[in-house]
Formats: sequence, structure tokens, C-alpha cells
Amino acid sequence: MNDARRAVAVLDRLRRFLATFPIARAALWTATRTSQRAAVAAVLVVGNLVGLITGGNRSGKTEAGAMLAVAFALGRDHPAVVAWAQVNRLDVSRIQRGPGVVCCSALTGNDSRRVQREKVAAYLPAGTEWTNRSGAGEATARLPGGGVIIFKSNDQGRRAFQGAAWHFLWMDEEHDEPVFNEARMRLADHGGLAVFTMTPLKGRTWVWRRFSERTHEDYEPGAADYALNSRDNPHVPQDYLDRLLSNYGAHERAAREQGSFVALEGRVFGDFARAIHVIPSRPIPSSWTRYQGWDFGTRNPACVLWAALDPADDVLHVYREHYRAGWTTKQHAEHVTEVETCSACRGEPERSEDDALVQASPRGWESVHPAGVFGFGGDELRCVACVEHPGRTEPEPEWRVADPAAKGDRKTLARHHDIRTIPADNAVRSGLNDVAERLALDVEGRPHLVIHDSCRNTIAEAEGYVWDTTRRKGNDADAPLKRNDHAMDVLRYMCRQLSRRSGGGLGATA
Ligand SMILES: Nc1ncnc2c1ncn2[C@@H]1O[C@H](COP(=O)(O)OP(=O)(O)OP(=O)(O)O)[C@@H](O)[C@H]1O
Ligand SMILES: [Mg+2]
Repeated sequence: MNDARRAVAVLDRLRRFLATFPIARAALWTATRTSQRAAVAAVLVVGNLVGLITGGNRSGKTEAGAMLAVAFALGRDHPAVVAWAQVNRLDVSRIQRGPGVVCCSALTGNDSRRVQREKVAAYLPAGTEWTNRSGAGEATARLPGGGVIIFKSNDQGRRAFQGAAWHFLWMDEEHDEPVFNEARMRLADHGGLAVFTMTPLKGRTWVWRRFSERTHEDYEPGAADYALNSRDNPHVPQDYLDRLLSNYGAHERAAREQGSFVALEGRVFGDFARAIHVIPSRPIPSSWTRYQGWDFGTRNPACVLWAALDPADDVLHVYREHYRAGWTTKQHAEHVTEVETCSACRGEPERSEDDALVQASPRGWESVHPAGVFGFGGDELRCVACVEHPGRTEPEPEWRVADPAAKGDRKTLARHHDIRTIPADNAVRSGLNDVAERLALDVEGRPHLVIHDSCRNTIAEAEGYVWDTTRRKGNDADAPLKRNDHAMDVLRYMCRQLSRRSGGGLGATA
């Protein structure tokens, strides 16, 4: 064989090798500020037990996790892993020599199927055999040569993570602490490594305390962390990120862009300003769609908000509030009914001409007799004050949304007052995002949520609504302080309901 033919044969073998083992040519991205390569190098430091790659949305967290999972499944002596280490100038001695057993976990079974399995599949060697690759429940990938990757999810709960020993555990996005504690036991036999890849959307939770904050008493030695900035990922267009990030308040942006654990302190709606978000009360055109929200309370104030959407520019106007402590649900219901009932006809827009009420105020009624002629009785008269929304002061709301926990109150409204409510989605952070999204200014500098100045309690609550900083030590995600939050709860329910109908909004991105 001459040199040329030998070279062609070598190239051909190389091509086949790369086609068979896509991990061998997988390049982690690098930039001057942050880099995916540095993140992977940081978690692979020998001696690490836990590695934490935080990152903004679209920063490349999942991609990095997928490469690590396949590298551990193949083992560091595998030529494809040797090549991957060379391409990315990585020291891979933290990875065990031969094929390994790997567990990949997503938040939900759906995330596992739609995102995690597919990302991993892109780096798996040809000839890998799958069990249940696109089905619900757990899945397994068996690599030629012996490596195994098992796919689980946080929503299966702690018990699903009992069982065999693993070399590597990858959790994509923030899992529950009990699930992690159970899962990490599987690593003890092999001295395996656990890696989290996540955007710290929940603030300073257990992950921050145990694996990021070195001065915290819960901090565990042997943990390494690295934060990727979304802006540095060369594979994601900047204008896409601009659009994605423009919808969030300052604290949320820090997590979603820089991947940093933000202490949620100070005002929840830091962007809220009277000069921008409060406007003089004015009548709402009857063509606008109305919505209503309810939060119940007896010792605490109950709050009902009336809102309407300006169809021209998608600005939600909160134009009336009912805010009162010490009343029963019955009293609140009667008040709301009173407010919404036409005062001219008292809710009965059609009457006959000889009706006593018609006699008392003849100017409020007009004949609806087909001939248009007043006769001696028998003619139907119609209330002039409410022709566009018979019997009411304004159009019926498209929906009334209410605190989902208050089943009894909702039942009372429906049974005794004919006020039908739908249960609100009480996902707090999603709801807050939906409100913040509307408060944020659009490209023309306008907000999409304004409050009429008659709604004094709602305005006061929006200004005083702060994060609860006493929750730090708990395991729960950061949340607003539960004080003077009644109108804020209603606002959350309403904005959530609106954004769910329009497809979830950007808050849906994990
Ligand atoms: N090393 C890489 N090579 C090629 N493309 C990459 C690389 N890293 C990331 N990407 C691409 O960048 C985009 C974002 O990556 P990825 O999905 O891993 O980000 P993420 O941080 O997990 O995002 P999310 O916040 O949506 O979960 C994807 O289109 C991905 O394919
Ligand atoms: Mg991801």
C-alpha cells in the first residue's frame, strides 16, 4: 500500500470512528467570561463528590450534562472519551476506567422524554440499544461494550432512586432534596460523582446551602460549582436572549442570564412605580373583555378585583377593588352583586308598561314593542341604562378566578349567589412571573398592567410586597412574605389565568 492509499484508509477509519462515537468530536464552548469547558473541568476535579453547573437559560447546561453522562457510561479509557478529553483539553481522571452505570434524572417524565433522553442520544455510540426510549416511565440505554444509562425523574419520588450502584448521577434542573439524598446513596459503592445542571430559579435553596455557599454551615466539602452566563453561549442568538430576558424583573434576570443564586430580598415587584403603573380611574369601554379575581378572608381582608383587557394593546386595567376584613363570604357576595347590578332596573331590564317601577321613573325605559308604539299594557319596556349588558352595570366577566384552597367559599358563591368561579393556578413563582411580565415595559416603554387610582389597597400592597427573608434556612423555594398580600394573590391568579390561556408565556421555560 502506498502512502496515499494508507492516508485514505486512515482517514476512512477516522471518519467511521467519529460517526460511531459522536462524543469523540463534541466540543464544549468557550468564551472569555464563562465557558462550558471550564464548567466541565471544574466538576471533574479529582476528589469531587458533587459538581454544580448553574447557568442561565439556554447557557448549555443540559448539553454539558449529556456529554458527561455518555463519557461516564463509556469510561475514561475508551478511545472516544480519550478523544473528547483531547478536543476539550480536559483531565478525565475523575471518570472510572471502564464502562460505567449512569443515572440521568429530569424534573418530570415528560422532560426526560422530550429533552434529556434526546440530548444524551445525540452523543451515544452507534449500536446503543434502548428500552422505552420515548415511552412514559423509566428508560434505559445499553451501550455496546457494557455501559448503561438509566433515565428517571424527580416526580417519581425518592423511592424510585433506591437500588443498584451507579458511577455517575446527573440531575437536570433543581430536584427535591430527599430525592437527591436517596439518589446519592447509589454512588457510595463506586465513589461516584453527582452533577447538577440547573438555573437557580428558586433562589437560595438547599442546593445553594450545601454546594455553593462555602461559608454556610451546611456546606459539604468536595463540592465544586461553576456558573455559566447565557450571553456567552455562541450557539444561541443574542436577540433571542434579549426577547427571553426582557420579560423578567431584576432578580429573575440574574438567575436566568447569569445562572447566579439570587437572594430574593426587597420588593417582589421592584419595577412597580406609581408614575408608570397607576392611572386616573376612567370608564372602561363596554367592548373590553372583563375578568374578576377573588381572595377570601374573614379576619384578614378579602379582596375582589375587577379587570379589563384593552384589546388594542393588550393592557390589563385593574379598575375596581373590593377590599374588606371582617365580613362573611355572604356579605362580600352581596356587595359584589350589588355593584354589578343595574341600579335603574335593579337587575330586571324588561318590564311591562304598567309596572310600578316604570311609573316611578318613566325616562329610564323605552318601548320594545315591535311596532314601536306604546299601547295600553302588554308592551315590553326595556331599561335604557343597561341595554348593552341587560340588568348589569357592565358586561359579565369572561371568568372569575378564585383561591383554589377556598373550596367552601367558592361553593357558597355558586350555590347561594350565582357567582361561579374557577379555581386559580396557585403556582406562586409562575404567577409572580406573569405579573412581572405585564409590569415590565415593552419596546415602546409601556407597561401591560395598570391599576386605576381608585384601587388604593391594591396599589399599597404592590408597593409593600416583599420577599420573605426568614425562609432562607428552610427547604422551600423563596416566596413573598405572607402579609398584606391579598390583592397581590388575586393579581397573581388573574395574570396566571390570562397567560395560561395564551399559551403559558415565557415563564414556562425551565
Ligand atoms: N457545546 C455545544 N455545542 C453545540 N451546541 C451547543 C453546545 N452547548 C449548547 N449548545 C446549544 O445551545 C442551546 C442551549 O443549550 P442547552 O439546551 O444545553 O441549554 P440549557 O442551559 O440547558 O437551556 P435551558 O435553560 O433551556 O434548559 C441548544 O440549542 C444547544 O444545542
Ligand atoms: Mg436545559
